[in-house]
Amino acid sequence: MTSFIIDCDPGHDDAVAIVVAGRHLDVIGVTTVFGNSTIENTTRNALNILDGAGFEHIPVAAGASGPLVGLAKTGEGIHGKSGLDGATVPRSSREAIDQDAADFIIQASHEHDDLVIIAVAPETNLAIALERDPTLASRVSEISIMGGSTTHGNATAAAEYNIYADPEAASIVFESGIPIRMVGLNVTSTFGVTQTELDRLHAANGIGRELAGALQFYLDRQTSTYEHSYAPMHDTCAVIPYINPLWIEYQPLHVVVECAGTHTRGMTLCDTRGSVIGGENENSQTANAKVAIMADADAIIAQAIADLSHD
Ligand code: BDR
Ligand code: CA
Repeated sequence: MTSFIIDCDPGHDDAVAIVVAGRHLDVIGVTTVFGNSTIENTTRNALNILDGAGFEHIPVAAGASGPLVGLAKTGEGIHGKSGLDGATVPRSSREAIDQDAADFIIQASHEHDDLVIIAVAPETNLAIALERDPTLASRVSEISIMGGSTTHGNATAAAEYNIYADPEAASIVFESGIPIRMVGLNVTSTFGVTQTELDRLHAANGIGRELAGALQFYLDRQTSTYEHSYAPMHDTCAVIPYINPLWIEYQPLHVVVECAGTHTRGMTLCDTRGSVIGGENENSQTANAKVAIMADADAIIAQAIADLSHD
């Protein structure tokens, strides 16, 4: 049976991803990182969401408070000061465990034969773990990344936030040799939860109702910032292939992370000229990732709403 770690920075869409994953998968731990807010806030939010959704058995290990290089850039503009503004989830009485995220990942890789990491935040924890134990790569079955894009960015015109927040870390992960799935903005930013669906959540029970205010805050910020009429569920998309592999279509591509670039730092350069995993042709390098190119938006959003509305 596959075991999952969710590496995240909750974060509104992270919160939904945690709930969806917890309903369907064997989640053995949640690791947190700076990103949408400080490491203190993302860790607190993770604990609160897990307990609010009935997943008190899932441990939380806190990780990096900033990127490998430079200073932390947080996502207050979209997620508010707490990282989960608008939520009414009660405060959990738990704390993070006494082991950092990178060590938790390394230990889990020894204890679980088939370990998948769902990485929906800056990839600093993964990079630190790979640097701390270079043999880790051979013990991870797959990393499912929400990050990057084959087209536009959101942090900048070229770069998606999770990659832009720590390009050096993302580069280490993409070059690690671990099988990678990447679902980026070219797919995740094209659909989301609408006001109609949110109105249903406000009337739901449990975690759905407690997150409804948060998702309302997030939808309003998405509208004022990007003119979206929906709240993208970026991070849930990284969970979806393990729930229904038909809902997101991936294509094998070679991906590199731009760590320099006057205007393109943090960009994922996806070689769409065509390549095959395990093969090479004269035009392109060997694919190192399966990159999402299409999604069944209705099915994914319906699943997220159903999982949030679950008592
Ligand atoms: C990503 O950045 C964060 O704001 C979201 O949680 C998501 O992981 C989207 O660019
Ligand atoms: Ca996130």
